[in-house]
Amino acid sequence: MTEDTLTPEPPAVPRAVTTAGTAPATAPEPPGSPAPHARSALEAARRRTLALTDCLPDDELLAQHSPLMSPLVWDLAHIGNQEDIWLVRAAGGLPALRADLDSHYDAFRTPRADRPALPLLRPGPARRYLADVRERALDVLASAPPGDDFLFRMVAQHEQQHDETMLATHQLRRGRAVLDAPAPRPAPAGADRLPREVLVPGGPFTMGVDAADDPWALDNERPAHTVHVAPFWLDTVPVTNAAYQDFIADGGYDDPRWWHPDGWFHRQRARLTAPAFWRRDGGLWLRRRFGHAEPVPPDEPVCHVSWYEADAYARWAGRRLPTEAEWEKAARHDPATGRSLRHPWGDTPPGPEQANLGQRHLQPAPAGSYPQGAAPCGARQLLGDVWEWTADDFGPHPGFSAHPYREYSEVFFGTSHKVLRGGSFGTDPVACRGTFRNWDLPVRRQIFAGFRTCRDTGAGR
Ligand code: AVJ
Ligand code: FE
Repeated sequence: MTEDTLTPEPPAVPRAVTTAGTAPATAPEPPGSPAPHARSALEAARRRTLALTDCLPDDELLAQHSPLMSPLVWDLAHIGNQEDIWLVRAAGGLPALRADLDSHYDAFRTPRADRPALPLLRPGPARRYLADVRERALDVLASAPPGDDFLFRMVAQHEQQHDETMLATHQLRRGRAVLDAPAPRPAPAGADRLPREVLVPGGPFTMGVDAADDPWALDNERPAHTVHVAPFWLDTVPVTNAAYQDFIADGGYDDPRWWHPDGWFHRQRARLTAPAFWRRDGGLWLRRRFGHAEPVPPDEPVCHVSWYEADAYARWAGRRLPTEAEWEKAARHDPATGRSLRHPWGDTPPGPEQANLGQRHLQPAPAGSYPQGAAPCGARQLLGDVWEWTADDFGPHPGFSAHPYREYSEVFFGTSHKVLRGGSFGTDPVACRGTFRNWDLPVRRQIFAGFRTCRDTGAGR
Protein backbone atom coordinates (compact mmCIF):
# COMPACT_ATOMS: atom_id res chain seq x y z
CA MET A 1 0.00 0.00 0.00
CA THR A 2 2.89 2.33 0.71
CA GLU A 3 4.15 2.10 -2.82
CA ASP A 4 0.73 3.01 -4.20
CA THR A 5 0.78 6.32 -2.39
CA LEU A 6 4.08 7.15 -4.04
CA THR A 7 2.76 6.83 -7.58
CA PRO A 8 2.33 10.33 -8.95
CA GLU A 9 -1.03 11.08 -10.49
CA PRO A 10 -1.50 13.36 -13.48
CA PRO A 11 -2.72 16.75 -12.28
CA ALA A 12 -6.47 17.21 -12.22
CA VAL A 13 -7.90 19.38 -15.00
CA PRO A 14 -8.63 22.76 -13.45
CA ARG A 15 -12.00 24.43 -13.85
CA ALA A 16 -13.76 27.16 -11.92
CA VAL A 17 -14.94 26.24 -8.43
CA THR A 18 -16.22 27.81 -5.28
CA THR A 19 -13.88 27.23 -2.38
CA ALA A 20 -14.76 28.30 1.09
CA GLY A 21 -12.44 28.37 4.08
CA THR A 22 -9.15 27.74 2.31
CA ALA A 23 -6.16 30.00 2.02
CA PRO A 24 -5.06 31.05 -1.48
CA ALA A 25 -2.90 28.37 -2.94
CA THR A 26 0.80 28.73 -3.26
CA ALA A 27 2.09 25.45 -1.93
CA PRO A 28 4.45 23.64 -4.31
CA GLU A 29 5.44 20.01 -3.88
CA PRO A 30 8.38 19.61 -1.51
CA PRO A 31 11.80 19.89 -3.17
CA GLY A 32 12.87 16.58 -4.67
CA SER A 33 9.20 15.91 -5.38
CA PRO A 34 7.12 13.28 -6.17
CA ALA A 35 5.04 13.25 -3.03
CA PRO A 36 1.65 11.73 -3.73
CA HIS A 37 -1.05 14.01 -4.96
CA ALA A 38 -4.11 14.57 -2.85
CA ARG A 39 -6.24 12.22 -4.93
CA SER A 40 -3.90 9.23 -4.76
CA ALA A 41 -3.44 9.87 -1.03
CA LEU A 42 -7.21 9.85 -0.51
CA GLU A 43 -7.55 6.66 -2.52
CA ALA A 44 -4.72 4.89 -0.70
CA ALA A 45 -6.22 5.88 2.65
CA ARG A 46 -9.55 4.43 1.62
CA ARG A 47 -8.02 1.12 0.55
CA ARG A 48 -6.46 0.83 3.97
CA THR A 49 -9.64 1.85 5.81
CA LEU A 50 -11.57 -0.85 3.97
CA ALA A 51 -8.85 -3.47 4.53
CA LEU A 52 -8.95 -2.78 8.27
CA THR A 53 -12.73 -3.11 8.46
CA ASP A 54 -13.74 -5.58 5.71
CA CYS A 55 -11.82 -8.29 7.59
CA LEU A 56 -14.26 -8.31 10.51
CA PRO A 57 -17.94 -9.31 10.75
CA ASP A 58 -20.50 -6.64 11.67
CA ASP A 59 -20.70 -7.60 15.35
CA GLU A 60 -16.95 -7.10 15.74
CA LEU A 61 -17.14 -3.70 14.02
CA LEU A 62 -19.92 -2.65 16.39
CA ALA A 63 -18.20 -4.02 19.53
CA GLN A 64 -16.00 -1.95 21.77
CA HIS A 65 -12.73 -3.86 22.07
CA SER A 66 -11.34 -1.52 24.74
CA PRO A 67 -12.76 1.48 26.62
CA LEU A 68 -9.73 3.38 25.25
CA MET A 69 -10.99 3.01 21.71
CA SER A 70 -14.10 3.66 19.64
CA PRO A 71 -15.97 0.81 18.01
CA LEU A 72 -14.40 0.46 14.55
CA VAL A 73 -17.71 1.40 12.97
CA TRP A 74 -17.48 4.79 14.72
CA ASP A 75 -14.06 5.47 13.14
CA LEU A 76 -15.49 4.40 9.80
CA ALA A 77 -18.38 6.87 9.73
CA HIS A 78 -16.31 9.58 11.49
CA ILE A 79 -13.83 9.42 8.59
CA GLY A 80 -16.72 10.00 6.19
CA ASN A 81 -18.25 12.71 8.32
CA GLN A 82 -14.99 14.71 8.50
CA GLU A 83 -14.73 14.43 4.72
CA ASP A 84 -18.37 15.57 4.42
CA ILE A 85 -17.55 18.60 6.60
CA TRP A 86 -14.17 19.60 5.09
CA LEU A 87 -14.31 18.53 1.46
CA VAL A 88 -17.99 18.53 0.49
CA ARG A 89 -19.02 21.56 2.56
CA ALA A 90 -15.90 23.69 3.27
CA ALA A 91 -13.89 23.05 0.09
CA GLY A 92 -16.79 22.37 -2.27
CA GLY A 93 -19.34 24.84 -0.92
CA LEU A 94 -21.90 22.07 -1.41
CA PRO A 95 -24.71 21.04 0.94
CA ALA A 96 -23.87 18.36 3.52
CA LEU A 97 -24.64 14.77 2.66
CA ARG A 98 -25.60 14.08 6.25
CA ALA A 99 -25.46 17.10 8.58
CA ASP A 100 -27.60 15.05 10.97
CA LEU A 101 -24.60 12.80 11.66
CA ASP A 102 -22.27 15.61 12.76
CA SER A 103 -23.05 15.42 16.47
CA HIS A 104 -22.63 11.63 16.80
CA TYR A 105 -19.28 11.67 15.05
CA ASP A 106 -17.91 14.73 16.81
CA ALA A 107 -14.94 13.43 18.80
CA PHE A 108 -15.33 16.22 21.34
CA ARG A 109 -18.95 15.63 22.13
CA THR A 110 -18.70 11.97 23.16
CA PRO A 111 -15.67 10.35 24.81
CA ARG A 112 -14.51 7.09 23.25
CA ALA A 113 -15.83 4.98 26.13
CA ASP A 114 -19.38 6.30 25.56
CA ARG A 115 -19.50 5.97 21.78
CA PRO A 116 -21.08 2.48 21.69
CA ALA A 117 -24.22 4.03 23.22
CA LEU A 118 -24.66 6.47 20.30
CA PRO A 119 -27.17 5.65 17.56
CA LEU A 120 -24.34 4.78 15.16
CA LEU A 121 -24.72 3.87 11.51
CA ARG A 122 -24.53 0.10 11.01
CA PRO A 123 -21.52 -1.08 8.96
CA GLY A 124 -23.43 -1.29 5.65
CA PRO A 125 -24.84 2.25 5.77
CA ALA A 126 -21.51 3.56 7.11
CA ARG A 127 -19.68 2.14 4.08
CA ARG A 128 -22.27 3.63 1.72
CA TYR A 129 -21.95 7.03 3.44
CA LEU A 130 -18.15 6.88 3.02
CA ALA A 131 -18.50 6.03 -0.67
CA ASP A 132 -21.12 8.74 -1.33
CA VAL A 133 -19.05 11.41 0.39
CA ARG A 134 -15.94 10.31 -1.49
CA GLU A 135 -17.68 10.54 -4.87
CA ARG A 136 -18.69 14.12 -4.10
CA ALA A 137 -15.26 15.01 -2.66
CA LEU A 138 -13.42 13.78 -5.76
CA ASP A 139 -15.71 15.91 -7.94
CA VAL A 140 -14.80 18.91 -5.82
CA LEU A 141 -11.10 18.07 -6.05
CA ALA A 142 -11.26 17.66 -9.82
CA SER A 143 -12.42 21.25 -10.10
CA ALA A 144 -10.17 22.74 -7.41
CA PRO A 145 -7.54 25.18 -8.68
CA PRO A 146 -4.12 23.49 -8.76
CA GLY A 147 -2.31 23.93 -5.46
CA ASP A 148 -5.51 24.77 -3.60
CA ASP A 149 -5.74 21.37 -2.06
CA PHE A 150 -4.60 21.68 1.55
CA LEU A 151 -7.95 20.48 2.89
CA PHE A 152 -7.74 17.38 0.69
CA ARG A 153 -4.27 16.60 2.00
CA MET A 154 -5.45 17.22 5.54
CA VAL A 155 -8.43 14.89 5.09
CA ALA A 156 -6.24 12.17 3.55
CA GLN A 157 -3.94 12.43 6.58
CA HIS A 158 -6.93 12.41 8.91
CA GLU A 159 -8.13 9.14 7.39
CA GLN A 160 -4.64 7.63 7.67
CA GLN A 161 -4.44 8.77 11.30
CA HIS A 162 -7.68 6.93 12.02
CA ASP A 163 -6.32 3.94 10.12
CA GLU A 164 -3.46 3.84 12.63
CA THR A 165 -5.96 4.23 15.46
CA MET A 166 -7.98 1.35 14.01
CA LEU A 167 -4.80 -0.72 13.82
CA ALA A 168 -4.32 -0.06 17.54
CA THR A 169 -7.90 -1.23 18.09
CA HIS A 170 -7.02 -4.42 16.20
CA GLN A 171 -4.07 -4.90 18.55
CA LEU A 172 -6.36 -4.56 21.60
CA ARG A 173 -8.98 -6.88 20.15
CA ARG A 174 -9.21 -10.45 21.47
CA GLY A 175 -10.00 -13.44 19.31
CA ARG A 176 -8.68 -15.02 16.17
CA ALA A 177 -6.08 -13.15 14.12
CA VAL A 178 -7.48 -11.45 11.01
CA LEU A 179 -4.63 -9.22 9.79
CA ASP A 180 -1.73 -10.33 7.66
CA ALA A 181 1.30 -8.14 7.03
CA PRO A 182 1.68 -7.43 3.27
CA ALA A 183 5.49 -7.71 3.47
CA PRO A 184 7.59 -10.52 4.97
CA ARG A 185 8.94 -10.26 8.51
CA PRO A 186 11.80 -7.71 8.62
CA ALA A 187 15.26 -9.31 8.58
CA PRO A 188 17.74 -9.16 11.51
CA ALA A 189 19.92 -6.05 11.36
CA GLY A 190 22.89 -6.35 13.75
CA ALA A 191 22.54 -3.17 15.80
CA ASP A 192 25.45 -4.38 17.97
CA ARG A 193 27.83 -3.44 15.14
CA LEU A 194 26.72 0.21 15.32
CA PRO A 195 28.06 2.80 17.77
CA ARG A 196 25.75 2.97 20.78
CA GLU A 197 25.23 6.72 20.38
CA VAL A 198 25.82 9.51 17.88
CA LEU A 199 26.82 13.12 18.42
CA VAL A 200 24.32 15.76 17.35
CA PRO A 201 26.26 19.02 16.90
CA GLY A 202 25.30 22.12 18.82
CA GLY A 203 24.07 25.35 17.23
CA PRO A 204 21.01 26.69 15.50
CA PHE A 205 18.73 24.73 13.18
CA THR A 206 15.38 25.30 11.50
CA MET A 207 12.54 23.64 13.42
CA GLY A 208 9.07 23.33 11.90
CA VAL A 209 8.13 24.29 8.36
CA ASP A 210 6.13 26.91 6.47
CA ALA A 211 3.03 25.95 4.50
CA ALA A 212 4.70 27.24 1.34
CA ASP A 213 7.54 24.74 1.77
CA ASP A 214 5.49 21.68 2.68
CA PRO A 215 1.91 21.42 1.43
CA TRP A 216 1.28 18.51 3.83
CA ALA A 217 2.30 20.32 7.01
CA LEU A 218 -0.52 20.59 9.53
CA ASP A 219 -1.01 23.67 11.68
CA ASN A 220 1.08 22.51 14.65
CA GLU A 221 4.18 21.95 12.44
CA ARG A 222 4.19 25.58 11.35
CA PRO A 223 5.90 27.98 11.05
CA ALA A 224 9.63 27.39 10.47
CA HIS A 225 11.71 29.02 13.20
CA THR A 226 15.29 28.91 14.44
CA VAL A 227 16.09 26.95 17.59
CA HIS A 228 19.48 26.70 19.31
CA VAL A 229 20.32 23.24 20.57
CA ALA A 230 23.34 22.37 22.70
CA PRO A 231 25.40 19.41 21.45
CA PHE A 232 24.19 16.06 22.80
CA TRP A 233 24.65 12.33 22.43
CA LEU A 234 21.64 10.42 21.08
CA ASP A 235 21.00 6.66 20.95
CA THR A 236 21.76 5.47 17.41
CA VAL A 237 18.65 3.26 17.51
CA PRO A 238 15.50 3.10 19.63
CA VAL A 239 15.68 1.25 22.98
CA THR A 240 15.24 -2.46 22.30
CA ASN A 241 13.17 -5.11 24.04
CA ALA A 242 16.43 -6.69 25.31
CA ALA A 243 17.58 -3.41 26.88
CA TYR A 244 14.13 -2.83 28.33
CA GLN A 245 14.17 -6.35 29.82
CA ASP A 246 17.39 -5.40 31.65
CA PHE A 247 15.48 -2.51 33.23
CA ILE A 248 12.72 -4.91 34.30
CA ALA A 249 15.20 -7.52 35.57
CA ASP A 250 17.04 -4.85 37.55
CA GLY A 251 13.84 -4.05 39.46
CA GLY A 252 13.19 -0.86 37.52
CA TYR A 253 9.43 -1.11 38.01
CA ASP A 254 9.88 -1.36 41.80
CA ASP A 255 12.25 1.52 42.38
CA PRO A 256 10.64 4.94 42.82
CA ARG A 257 14.02 6.63 42.28
CA TRP A 258 13.63 6.24 38.53
CA TRP A 259 10.03 7.41 38.24
CA HIS A 260 8.40 10.80 37.89
CA PRO A 261 6.18 11.19 41.00
CA ASP A 262 3.01 11.06 38.88
CA GLY A 263 4.49 8.09 37.02
CA TRP A 264 5.18 6.22 40.26
CA PHE A 265 1.62 6.85 41.41
CA HIS A 266 0.32 5.59 38.09
CA ARG A 267 2.66 2.58 38.04
CA GLN A 268 1.30 1.48 41.42
CA ARG A 269 -2.34 2.11 40.68
CA ALA A 270 -2.21 0.46 37.25
CA ARG A 271 0.14 -2.28 38.58
CA LEU A 272 2.54 -1.89 35.69
CA THR A 273 5.26 -4.55 35.49
CA ALA A 274 6.10 -4.68 31.76
CA PRO A 275 5.03 -3.14 28.44
CA ALA A 276 1.41 -3.67 27.38
CA PHE A 277 0.69 -7.03 25.75
CA TRP A 278 3.67 -8.71 27.45
CA ARG A 279 3.25 -11.80 29.63
CA ARG A 280 5.83 -13.83 31.49
CA ASP A 281 5.94 -17.57 30.87
CA GLY A 282 8.54 -19.11 33.15
CA GLY A 283 11.81 -17.39 32.27
CA LEU A 284 10.49 -16.15 28.92
CA TRP A 285 8.69 -12.97 27.90
CA LEU A 286 5.83 -13.54 25.46
CA ARG A 287 3.71 -10.93 23.74
CA ARG A 288 0.40 -10.83 21.96
CA ARG A 289 0.58 -9.19 18.54
CA PHE A 290 -2.56 -8.86 16.40
CA GLY A 291 -3.94 -12.10 17.80
CA HIS A 292 -0.71 -14.14 17.74
CA ALA A 293 1.27 -15.13 20.84
CA GLU A 294 5.04 -15.07 20.28
CA PRO A 295 8.31 -14.66 22.19
CA VAL A 296 9.32 -11.01 22.56
CA PRO A 297 12.06 -10.46 19.92
CA PRO A 298 15.08 -9.08 21.80
CA ASP A 299 16.39 -6.93 18.95
CA GLU A 300 13.16 -5.03 18.15
CA PRO A 301 12.51 -1.51 19.46
CA VAL A 302 10.33 -1.76 22.55
CA CYS A 303 6.70 -0.82 21.85
CA HIS A 304 3.57 -0.15 23.89
CA VAL A 305 5.25 1.71 26.73
CA SER A 306 3.86 4.86 28.32
CA TRP A 307 5.76 8.13 28.64
CA TYR A 308 6.14 7.37 32.36
CA GLU A 309 7.82 4.05 31.58
CA ALA A 310 10.08 5.62 28.96
CA ASP A 311 11.03 8.38 31.38
CA ALA A 312 11.79 5.86 34.18
CA TYR A 313 13.92 3.71 31.87
CA ALA A 314 15.93 6.75 30.77
CA ARG A 315 16.63 7.79 34.35
CA TRP A 316 17.60 4.21 35.30
CA ALA A 317 20.04 4.27 32.37
CA GLY A 318 21.57 7.52 33.63
CA ARG A 319 20.15 9.32 30.62
CA ARG A 320 17.05 11.29 29.61
CA LEU A 321 14.44 11.56 26.87
CA PRO A 322 15.37 14.02 24.11
CA THR A 323 13.48 17.28 23.90
CA GLU A 324 11.36 17.76 20.81
CA ALA A 325 13.89 20.24 19.39
CA GLU A 326 16.72 17.76 19.97
CA TRP A 327 14.76 15.00 18.26
CA GLU A 328 13.93 17.19 15.27
CA LYS A 329 17.47 18.47 14.94
CA ALA A 330 18.79 14.89 14.93
CA ALA A 331 16.20 13.93 12.31
CA ARG A 332 16.47 16.96 9.99
CA HIS A 333 19.58 19.07 10.39
CA ASP A 334 22.10 18.68 7.58
CA PRO A 335 25.43 20.14 8.76
CA ALA A 336 26.74 20.11 5.17
CA THR A 337 24.20 22.72 4.03
CA GLY A 338 22.79 24.10 7.29
CA ARG A 339 19.30 23.23 5.95
CA SER A 340 16.63 21.15 7.60
CA LEU A 341 15.63 18.11 5.54
CA ARG A 342 12.08 16.82 5.19
CA HIS A 343 13.21 13.33 6.20
CA PRO A 344 16.40 12.06 7.86
CA TRP A 345 17.76 10.84 4.50
CA GLY A 346 16.76 13.91 2.51
CA ASP A 347 13.74 15.34 0.73
CA THR A 348 12.72 12.25 -1.27
CA PRO A 349 9.58 10.49 -0.01
CA PRO A 350 9.89 7.42 2.22
CA GLY A 351 10.30 4.13 0.40
CA PRO A 352 10.60 0.60 1.81
CA GLU A 353 14.40 0.97 1.90
CA GLN A 354 14.28 4.01 4.17
CA ALA A 355 11.68 3.38 6.83
CA ASN A 356 9.17 0.93 8.26
CA LEU A 357 5.97 2.85 7.61
CA GLY A 358 2.58 2.20 6.05
CA GLN A 359 1.44 -1.01 7.78
CA ARG A 360 3.61 -3.14 5.47
CA HIS A 361 5.11 -4.97 8.44
CA LEU A 362 2.81 -5.26 11.40
CA GLN A 363 5.73 -4.90 13.82
CA PRO A 364 8.84 -2.78 14.29
CA ALA A 365 11.93 -3.84 12.34
CA PRO A 366 15.01 -4.90 14.33
CA ALA A 367 17.08 -2.04 15.75
CA GLY A 368 19.79 -1.05 13.27
CA SER A 369 17.64 -1.64 10.17
CA TYR A 370 17.36 0.86 7.32
CA PRO A 371 20.93 2.13 6.81
CA GLN A 372 19.55 4.07 3.81
CA GLY A 373 17.20 5.92 6.14
CA ALA A 374 19.94 7.18 8.47
CA ALA A 375 20.07 10.87 9.38
CA PRO A 376 23.22 12.98 8.76
CA CYS A 377 24.12 12.48 12.46
CA GLY A 378 24.06 8.70 11.92
CA ALA A 379 20.90 7.92 13.92
CA ARG A 380 18.65 5.25 12.38
CA GLN A 381 14.94 4.54 12.39
CA LEU A 382 13.97 8.05 13.40
CA LEU A 383 10.99 7.69 11.07
CA GLY A 384 8.87 4.56 11.24
CA ASP A 385 9.00 1.48 13.49
CA VAL A 386 7.80 3.10 16.74
CA TRP A 387 6.65 6.58 17.72
CA GLU A 388 9.25 8.07 20.02
CA TRP A 389 8.26 9.79 23.24
CA THR A 390 10.02 13.11 23.78
CA ALA A 391 10.55 15.01 27.03
CA ASP A 392 8.19 17.82 26.07
CA ASP A 393 4.60 18.83 26.61
CA PHE A 394 2.58 19.57 23.46
CA GLY A 395 2.60 23.30 22.77
CA PRO A 396 2.51 25.72 19.86
CA HIS A 397 5.55 26.69 17.81
CA PRO A 398 6.18 30.45 18.06
CA GLY A 399 3.89 32.14 15.53
CA PHE A 400 1.38 29.27 15.53
CA SER A 401 -2.10 29.89 14.23
CA ALA A 402 -4.87 27.29 14.20
CA HIS A 403 -5.80 26.07 10.72
CA PRO A 404 -8.40 25.20 9.70
CA TYR A 405 -9.96 24.29 13.06
CA ARG A 406 -8.94 24.76 16.72
CA GLU A 407 -9.82 21.19 17.63
CA TYR A 408 -7.07 19.65 15.54
CA SER A 409 -4.19 20.91 17.73
CA GLU A 410 -4.84 24.02 19.73
CA VAL A 411 -7.25 22.59 22.28
CA PHE A 412 -4.60 19.99 23.23
CA PHE A 413 -1.83 22.49 23.96
CA GLY A 414 -0.82 22.66 27.61
CA THR A 415 0.68 20.37 30.22
CA SER A 416 -1.52 17.27 29.77
CA HIS A 417 -0.05 15.77 26.60
CA LYS A 418 3.48 14.66 25.72
CA VAL A 419 4.84 14.87 22.19
CA LEU A 420 5.77 11.81 20.16
CA ARG A 421 7.81 11.98 16.96
CA GLY A 422 8.69 9.92 13.94
CA GLY A 423 5.71 7.68 13.23
CA SER A 424 5.44 3.92 13.58
CA PHE A 425 5.04 0.87 11.37
CA GLY A 426 1.32 1.73 11.53
CA THR A 427 1.75 5.28 10.17
CA ASP A 428 1.36 6.03 6.49
CA PRO A 429 4.11 8.06 4.80
CA VAL A 430 1.64 10.88 4.01
CA ALA A 431 1.08 11.30 7.74
CA CYS A 432 4.75 11.26 8.70
CA ARG A 433 7.78 13.52 8.14
CA GLY A 434 10.54 15.14 10.15
CA THR A 435 8.26 17.94 11.31
CA PHE A 436 5.19 15.81 12.13
CA ARG A 437 4.02 16.07 15.74
CA ASN A 438 1.87 13.52 17.54
CA TRP A 439 0.75 13.76 21.16
CA ASP A 440 -0.87 11.66 23.83
CA LEU A 441 -1.38 11.43 27.57
CA PRO A 442 1.70 10.18 29.47
CA VAL A 443 -0.19 7.09 30.71
CA ARG A 444 -1.18 5.87 27.26
CA ARG A 445 0.41 2.78 25.77
CA GLN A 446 -2.03 1.32 23.28
CA ILE A 447 -0.34 3.45 20.61
CA PHE A 448 2.73 2.05 18.83
CA ALA A 449 5.13 3.99 21.00
CA GLY A 450 8.71 3.41 22.11
CA PHE A 451 11.58 5.85 22.66
CA ARG A 452 15.28 6.51 22.52
CA THR A 453 17.44 8.21 25.14
CA CYS A 454 20.16 10.86 25.08
CA ARG A 455 22.61 12.70 27.36
CA ASP A 456 24.36 16.05 27.44
CA THR A 457 27.94 15.99 26.19
CA GLY A 458 30.10 15.29 29.23
CA ALA A 459 27.24 13.80 31.26
CA GLY A 460 25.66 10.40 31.85
CA ARG A 461 26.98 7.20 30.32
C1 AVJ B 1 -2.75 13.43 16.16
C2 AVJ B 1 -3.18 11.13 16.58
C3 AVJ B 1 -3.33 12.71 18.36
O1 AVJ B 1 -6.11 10.65 17.00
O2 AVJ B 1 -6.42 12.20 18.46
C4 AVJ B 1 -7.79 12.28 14.45
C5 AVJ B 1 -5.39 12.71 15.19
N1 AVJ B 1 -7.37 14.28 15.16
N2 AVJ B 1 -8.92 13.00 14.39
C6 AVJ B 1 -5.94 11.78 17.41
C7 AVJ B 1 -6.82 13.07 14.93
C8 AVJ B 1 -8.69 14.21 14.81
C9 AVJ B 1 -5.04 12.76 16.65
N3 AVJ B 1 -3.60 12.50 16.92
FE1 FE C 1 -10.76 12.26 13.75
